[in-house]
Amino acid sequence: MRHLMSPLDFSVSEIDRLLDLANDIEKQPEKYAHACEGKKLATCFYEPSTRTRLSFEAAMLNLGGSVLGFSSANSSSAAKGESVSDTIRIISCYADICAMRHPKEGAPLVASEKSKIPVINAGDGGHQHPTQTLTDLLTIRSLKGHLGNLTIGLCGDLKFGRTVHSLINALIRYNNVKFVLISPEELKVPDYIREDVLKANNIEFEEVERLEDAMSELDVLYMTRVQKERFFNEEDYIRLKDFYVLNKQKLAEAKDDMLILHPLPRVNEIAVEVDDDPRACYFKQAQYGVYVRMALILTLLELDKKFEY
Ligand code: CP
Repeated sequence: MRHLMSPLDFSVSEIDRLLDLANDIEKQPEKYAHACEGKKLATCFYEPSTRTRLSFEAAMLNLGGSVLGFSSANSSSAAKGESVSDTIRIISCYADICAMRHPKEGAPLVASEKSKIPVINAGDGGHQHPTQTLTDLLTIRSLKGHLGNLTIGLCGDLKFGRTVHSLINALIRYNNVKFVLISPEELKVPDYIREDVLKANNIEFEEVERLEDAMSELDVLYMTRVQKERFFNEEDYIRLKDFYVLNKQKLAEAKDDMLILHPLPRVNEIAVEVDDDPRACYFKQAQYGVYVRMALILTLLELDKKFEY
């Protein structure tokens, strides 16, 4: 039995195969409409979510399965003090697979150690968000045609942004990927990403503060929200929250085929006027999240082997 805690839990060839499956699901959804009949997905979300929880639920329903779960710690027995370990033991009796989001880093890993069913990390604190990364990889590969030979700009809250940490971990395994890390000093990537991931693997990267200084060289611009919920004081958040606002004017220097991505939700970091730009792909990206989560559910339940794709 396999769990998914980090994008590194899958080899590059396993990720390529999962993305192939997701592309096939997009093309022929009816082929997979009964694949999970009789199976149940539990969504255990101790933190708010729109895309991840609902796209997981849509994914299981699209596969013919059923869903159950809770959408906040307050609506589960966590509010009475139940541990994640005890909760997953119970969920293991009710469901075949579980997607878990938790504000504490490592909580889904703790759950996986006691679980009798596959556990998927649906975001743990400021640490990792592997299914967002699979979504991002599918989006980039589908729209660019490849995952190597790209200059990727990551902009905003690179300190607390778990989507950024997971995406860097995943993309360093492809050839000739260069990162431009665009953030204010206080929101730079954590040292463990800079030293143990980027430098240790000889990955080309630069760190800049001004988005305008990087724009013209980017193949992908990945905007992120400043993570209010991870700040220790509101004053710092208010000072930093509008540090970057992508608008039409700032895009003047961008390549014509640059992809603008964002894991969403956005607050103010992409002006609504950008939504009409042909390079704006963040809503399409959210749609890819359903296909990739369908592919992931099939893979972890070992039902992917029933299909040729
Ligand atoms: N991208 C993402 O994780 O969105 P939600 O918080 O809405 O799930």
